Amino acid sequence: MKHLLKLLDLSKEEITELLDLADRLKAETKAGVEHHILKGKTLGMIFEKSSTRTRVSFETGMYQLGGHALFLSSRDLQIGRGEPVEDTARVLSRYLDGIMIRTFAQEEVETLARVGSIPIINGLTDFCHPCQVLADLQTVREYKGRIEGLNMCYIGDGNNMANSLIVGFLKMGAHVSIACPKAYQPDAQVLSFTEQYPGKFVMTESPEEAAKDADVIFTDVWASMGQEEEKAVREKAFRGYQINAELLAKAHLGCMVQHCLPAHRGEEITADVFESHADQIFDEAENRLHAQKAVMVAVMADKKDW
Ligand code: CP
Ligand code: NVA
Repeated sequence: MKHLLKLLDLSKEEITELLDLADRLKAETKAGVEHHILKGKTLGMIFEKSSTRTRVSFETGMYQLGGHALFLSSRDLQIGRGEPVEDTARVLSRYLDGIMIRTFAQEEVETLARVGSIPIINGLTDFCHPCQVLADLQTVREYKGRIEGLNMCYIGDGNNMANSLIVGFLKMGAHVSIACPKAYQPDAQVLSFTEQYPGKFVMTESPEEAAKDADVIFTDVWASMGQEEEKAVREKAFRGYQINAELLAKAHLGCMVQHCLPAHRGEEITADVFESHADQIFDEAENRLHAQKAVMVAVMADKKDW
């Protein structure tokens, strides 16, 4: 694997290999094993949007693997003053061993990968959030023992999280049901991808229909980063697209609840559902660290050193 730009680029086997590696690194680190797999390597982390989990888990993960991480805010980089991403890619390729980038346009991430000569990891774009969904797959597999054949449900905005969840869970053999308002459907590229999985993908405007017999239900904020000005319009459009006790009653007994965080209690999820599933949600947040360590090893280390 050269880069992690989007889950659409990965095969089921590659995703499985990453999840297995993430489980192994997690177990070994918890057992006190010290890793030196990325000794002497530096990861640049470009942030054009805010972050708590992504920033801290990448920086900590790099340290735990023996390497070093640099936080690069677009507010301070010349990229924020208009230096072309192509030039930034060519310069940073001379200093670094890999780049993690969180930005708006997916095209910017693809350009970095095309023009630069080092591995690029997508830390969230408006189109997708592959690192998050690798952690989500890891968490669901830990709790349920498998992904194949499970019913995964997503309620809310057809945003970056929805796009990656649909692709990741379909590739791993789950049934996927999503409920979103008509004007907020997932990306057209993702919807055309679902056509490769006849009978395994349902899209509806009804949260109750999507949640029926679910084994795991995901949601995400109604307004993502960069959409702050649409907040009022979105609050109206998404009313009812909420994980609450009534909705959970439609799901299978023992249905998991997952949220990539940050969460807005009282909007996409009620405080009681959030708190009664907090262990699962914070295990999911923890797995960002383990899943991303697997990604960094896969793209920055020789396979013989894994
Ligand atoms: N879930 C997630 O990506 O969180 P941050 O925005 O805090 O990085
Ligand atoms: N959809 C959210 C996810 C945050 C992790 C956003 O893009 O802001």
